[in-house]
Amino acid sequence: MKMIFKSHLLLVLPVCILSLAACNQPAKQSSTSTMTDSTTQATLPAAKGFEQTIDGKQTHYYILKNKNGVQASFTDYGAHLVGLLVPDKAGKLTDVVIGFDSIAGYKASLSAYFGATIGRYGNRIAKGHFVLDGRRYDLFINNKPNTLHGGQKGFNDVVWDAKQISDTTITFTYLSKDGEEGYPGNLDCKVTFELTNDNAVKISYEATTDKHTIINLTNHSYFNLNGAGSGTILDHTVQMDASTYTPIDSTSIPTGKIEPVAGTPFDFTKPATIGSRINDKNEQLKNGTGYDHNFVLDKHDISTPIATVIGDKTGIEMQIFTTEPGLQFYSGNFMKGANTIHGGAKDELRTAFAMETQHYPDSPNKPQFPSTELKPGETYKTVTIYKFSAK
Ligand code: BGC
Repeated sequence: MKMIFKSHLLLVLPVCILSLAACNQPAKQSSTSTMTDSTTQATLPAAKGFEQTIDGKQTHYYILKNKNGVQASFTDYGAHLVGLLVPDKAGKLTDVVIGFDSIAGYKASLSAYFGATIGRYGNRIAKGHFVLDGRRYDLFINNKPNTLHGGQKGFNDVVWDAKQISDTTITFTYLSKDGEEGYPGNLDCKVTFELTNDNAVKISYEATTDKHTIINLTNHSYFNLNGAGSGTILDHTVQMDASTYTPIDSTSIPTGKIEPVAGTPFDFTKPATIGSRINDKNEQLKNGTGYDHNFVLDKHDISTPIATVIGDKTGIEMQIFTTEPGLQFYSGNFMKGANTIHGGAKDELRTAFAMETQHYPDSPNKPQFPSTELKPGETYKTVTIYKFSAK
């Protein structure tokens, strides 16, 4: 089988601890949801809100924990990363992923994709169609006039099969049927999350198909490295090894050009805060309503970080490593305070950012971009790592 390597959290509430004997079993902890003030440790949501029946399938809640007490929780509904507790510079556990206390929260905010596994195609496909082998495929237009993050019922809104392999590893599988959301081919997908002992969340994606198709899987976690509910992310510092990016039109579809970031508000090759230029007069910032663009990564290996983000209040640093060629940096421009997040705060404007490792948006209609096609006999494999430290 041909392999395709697309180029291209210490003080822990004992109640949260999963023993090895509980492997393969969903979490049964019942911690209450409290959010951080400056002294209290953040906690993960309780399991209760994640146990229901959706599309005839029982949903569950899972907790991973590494030897440093770092914790991450998940639900098989949409293979969501629900919460992630990492120590800040004072050692205080801080929830850096914006999530909800229940599946109801995720359902109510579906179009924002909080913490979700995205598929079959991450980000936009122009006008909701593409041509493959001379045949046109029509998709659901869920982000007028385009298709976004898989369509009407993307991978974020289906119940995956989960298997917790150990205290630190969980695997989600999903078979997306031929024709689902208009995409060709039965697509067998596997997403593995590992919480490593160097405080990283490693996400490995794998998929095979029985028909020529397209695929672009990613994770849509919203981060606030100062902790959920701590205010905006505008004073977070970002650095990215991306000397070019893909400018977009007014509907957020890449124009097809790859342009240098030098001399623009998109230049994060040297560290800059998110807020320092976000309100500049700039057509691209206008088109994205802020940062909502695909950055073309200069490096294509997993061994060195391609981006680093630092929370100004906690000193928490997140390094991103990926095998993917692109990084969609989204500065939470459409957050409106409509949703109550874990801990009780609202998801106000720019209170979180996403860094979605991916192939470029609209690649199926842009032959000049790295290919997102997958053929029978090939295996789609990509890896992304979000690594945390604090100083
Ligand atoms: C997209 C944004 C969108 C957000 C939530 C991001 O990946 O690029 O345009 O608003 O997801 O749907």
